[in-house]
Amino acid sequence: MRPELLFGLSVALSAHWQAAALKFPFNIPFLSNNDQAPLIDVNTLLPESTPPNRIAIVGAGAAGSSAAFWIAKAKERFGLDVEVDVYEKNDYIGGRSTVVYPYNNTEYDPVELGASIFVEINRNMWRATEEFGLERIGFGDENNVMGIWDGQEFVLTTGGGSFLGSWMDTLKVIWRYGISAPRRTQAVVKSMATQFLTLYAPTTPRFANITTLASSLGWTPVVASTAAEYFDTQGISRLFTRELVDAATRVNYGQDVDALHALEGMCSLAAENAASVKGGNFQVFEQFLQRSNATVHLKTEVTSLIQDAASGAWLVGTGGTTRPRAYRGVVLAAPFYSTAIEVSPPALLTPVPEQPYVHLHVTLLSTTARTPSAAYFGLGSGVAPTEVLTTHNRVREGLGEEPEFNSMTYHGKLRKADGAPAERDEWVVKIFSKARVEDAWLENMFGAGNVGWVLRKEWDAYPVLPPTVSFPPIKLAKGLYYVNAFEPFISTMETETIASRNVVDLLLHDEWNAGICPAAVEGDEEATAEKAKDDKFVLGWDC
Ligand SMILES: Cc1cc2nc3c(=O)[nH]c(=O)nc-3n(C[C@H](O)[C@H](O)[C@H](O)COP(=O)(O)OP(=O)(O)OC[C@H]3O[C@@H](n4cnc5c(N)ncnc54)[C@H](O)[C@@H]3O)c2cc1C
Ligand SMILES: *[C@@H]1O[C@H](CO)[C@@H](O)[C@H](O)[C@H]1NC(C)=O
Ligand SMILES: *[C@@H]1O[C@H](CO)[C@@H](O)[C@H](O)[C@H]1NC(C)=O
Ligand SMILES: *[C@@H]1O[C@H](CO)[C@@H](O)[C@H](O)[C@H]1NC(C)=O
Repeated sequence: MRPELLFGLSVALSAHWQAAALKFPFNIPFLSNNDQAPLIDVNTLLPESTPPNRIAIVGAGAAGSSAAFWIAKAKERFGLDVEVDVYEKNDYIGGRSTVVYPYNNTEYDPVELGASIFVEINRNMWRATEEFGLERIGFGDENNVMGIWDGQEFVLTTGGGSFLGSWMDTLKVIWRYGISAPRRTQAVVKSMATQFLTLYAPTTPRFANITTLASSLGWTPVVASTAAEYFDTQGISRLFTRELVDAATRVNYGQDVDALHALEGMCSLAAENAASVKGGNFQVFEQFLQRSNATVHLKTEVTSLIQDAASGAWLVGTGGTTRPRAYRGVVLAAPFYSTAIEVSPPALLTPVPEQPYVHLHVTLLSTTARTPSAAYFGLGSGVAPTEVLTTHNRVREGLGEEPEFNSMTYHGKLRKADGAPAERDEWVVKIFSKARVEDAWLENMFGAGNVGWVLRKEWDAYPVLPPTVSFPPIKLAKGLYYVNAFEPFISTMETETIASRNVVDLLLHDEWNAGICPAAVEGDEEATAEKAKDDKFVLGWDC
């Protein structure tokens, strides 16, 4: 029997849902009504324990959309016949990666409301933009002046360009922190980046435990200490770490350099060749889904996951009157506790530890003010920076209050998508903060009457990331896998696509004896070594 036929048959049968697929043998209406005797004895092919040949993905963000894409790659390569349903409670694809339009007017260039940048070593995102013909735009406004604000004064102010990419070793930085701090930091980040790239190598093993992965990458000491502790052990100037690196961790992860682990600290600094997709990063995720041929159910919240004892199938429930649908595999592609899914029987699950997320306030606005208020920053007749990052260091030193926001950045002039200028000169500004930014505060910052459009959004943006060597489980039960277990290790769009590649590979291996790539052929070490040398090789896209 060709496996395709077996799969095709079981898919057809499962259309009859539980009664058909789960309590086999049984009365098969479409076969017994058939004049012709069945060519094969289905009872020998489909024992009671065979769940339908389907995978459910919960969530259509970076993780879920890429999971569907990886499954499609396996289908192409193995002729695997599996049906994929993606469930998404929002009415859009992208999750924490989505755009809004100034004044809610689609004639304007959209603005990222969540995840905005990725970098060149993010090989899945990079490759996706290339294969899907999406235009990348560089990140950072050359005209911006960057300042690090400590709540009372700017501890550092420097020229434009993207954060750290271009001014890491400018004279002002060297003047304040010495020459070795930026150099040593760059070296530490570079060695992390080199190690990171092994995650795309042809020989990268699938992993079932992130603690073990961290250890095999040599990152145990990195995740086990705060960024501040780790940088101190690397001989990097304490002030540099507590001001400049702090500014980077606060804008990227809403956490202080002496609070979050050093791996995320380093990721905050790996800003070389930062880019976004013109028109919105979410387009990568839309393309993943479109090219996967998966069925996407928007505005459909998964409320329950019940395992059928007889077949082992997962019954995915979406509430209301809709009947649950049975699946052989389920990929959870959202933070576990945010899904509020009831899993039954609960004892089945490997326990998922509680994971708090940083509650972030994003305020987007347009203003006719060319710069923020100099008076607010005590600059007198001076000009305030248009990229204000912040440090916690004054509080740390016991000398003052926390800055009122995490970051405030000008994102260029308001422009029509066709390049035409807007009716009047306005700039788009993005503020990240721990608390709501009130209208009166904005009026004070940009001048009375100078604020046009304002949009506020609260996100559970990324995990709270203290040092740890213990990470959530990836396999929660037979057939049930958890992509966002990876987030407390690293939380970015890219790493969610790496985590989903791994999860899909585990699932296909465990349930279908397949994988995203064919198993390595013994004696082919030479070919593998050749591929490993090709720095364009990206595991999953290439095999
Ligand atoms: C303001 C902000 C800035 C950021 N900046 C960056 C950045 O510059 N670069 C970067 O790489 N990352 C950034 N991040 C982090 C990045 O957004 C995330 O790491 C990544 O997008 C997570 O993708 P995901 O698919 O795992 O989760 P999500 O994008 O959260 O997707 C999960 C999806 O699951 C859905 N869902 C949840 N429960 C259910 C349910 N029960 N049934 C059905 N659907 C459900 C949700 O609606 C959601 O769409 C930022 C995040 C924020 C908020
Ligand atoms: C998606 O569907 C199209 C049209 O039916 C088909 O040509 C393509 O091979 C399918 N791709 C995958 C990954 O299933
Ligand atoms: C934005 O415009 C769309 C389309 O006109 C509308 O459906 C939506 O409600 C508007 N959103 C806001 C926040 O005003
Ligand atoms: C991962 O491995 C570590 C060390 O072997 C172990 O202590 C931990 O329980 C494992 N974690 C999971 C989620 O299985």
